Amino acid sequence: MDSLLREDIFKQAIKWVMEAGNTIRDKMNDPLDIETKSNANDLVTKLDKETEQFFVAKIKEKYKDHFIHGEEGYGDNPTSLDGTIWIIDPIDGTMNFVHQKRNFAISVGIYHDGVGEIGLIYDVMANTLYHAKKGQGAYKDDVKLQPLPKKKNINEAIVGMNHFWLCENRFIDEQVMQSFVKDIRGTRTYGSAALEFAFTAEGIVDGYISMGLSPWDVAAGIIIVNEVGGSTTDIDGRPVNMLEKSAILTCNTSFQKDILKYLKKGRK
Ligand code: IPD
Ligand code: CA
Ligand code: CA
Repeated sequence: MDSLLREDIFKQAIKWVMEAGNTIRDKMNDPLDIETKSNANDLVTKLDKETEQFFVAKIKEKYKDHFIHGEEGYGDNPTSLDGTIWIIDPIDGTMNFVHQKRNFAISVGIYHDGVGEIGLIYDVMANTLYHAKKGQGAYKDDVKLQPLPKKKNINEAIVGMNHFWLCENRFIDEQVMQSFVKDIRGTRTYGSAALEFAFTAEGIVDGYISMGLSPWDVAAGIIIVNEVGGSTTDIDGRPVNMLEKSAILTCNTSFQKDILKYLKKGRK
C-alpha cells in the first residue's frame, strides 16, 4: 500500500475508533439487549451491532472500494483477501463488557492484498490505544513499544491462556498442557483476545494461546505483535489464514519453537 494512503487511512481509522469508543462509554449503562449466538456463553449486545454498523457506514462512505470483514456480519463477508479489507471486532471481550463493564476492546486490522498494514486495538475503558503501521513500529498511545527480549527462556514466560487447555478438549491432550503450565512462570486470562495480543506486544505477558479465534480477534493484534518482533501462527506453526477460524499462538519468538513442541506433542 502506498505510504501516503496508509497514513490517511490510519488517521481516519483512529478518529472512528475513538468516536466509537466514546459512544460505547456513553451508552453502556442503557439496556444492552443481550442475546446469545453460537452457545449460551457467546454473547452479543445492541452495542456490538451498532458499533459495527457505525464502522461499516463510515468506511463505505469514505472508501467505496474497501471491503469489511466484521464479526456481526454487517460487512461484506469477503471470500478472498484481494484489495483493502477492514477486519473489525466492534467489541472484543463482550463477556467482560456485559459482566464487568471493562477489559474489552475495539479491534481494527486493515489488510491490503493479504498484507497487514494497520492495526488498532483500543482498550475502551482504559482509554488506551495500541497501534501499529507495517514497518513503523508499534505504540501504546504515544509511547513506542520496545522490541521483545531476544533471549527469554520459556521458564520465565507468562502466557495468556484459558482453562479450556487444561480440561479435556478436542485439540490437545490436557496432560501435556498441564506439564506446559508447570514449566512456564505463570498464566493469565484476560478474556479479550485483542487485549492479550496487545499485552504480548507490550511485553507484560510473553505470549497468548487460544482455541477457535476468528480473523477479527487477531487481525490487528498480529500486526502490532509483528512490529515488536513477535510472531503469530496457528498451533501447528502454520501462517494464520485470515479468512478462517483457527487455534492461535502469538508470542516472543525466542521460545516460540518450545511452545510449538508442547502443542505438537499433545496434538490430537
Ligand atoms: C472472544 C474473546 C475471548 C476469546 C474468544 C473470542 P468476543 O471475542 O476474545 O477472549 O477467548 O474466543 O471469541 O466474542 O468477545 O468478541
Ligand atoms: Ca472477539
Ligand atoms: Ca466481538
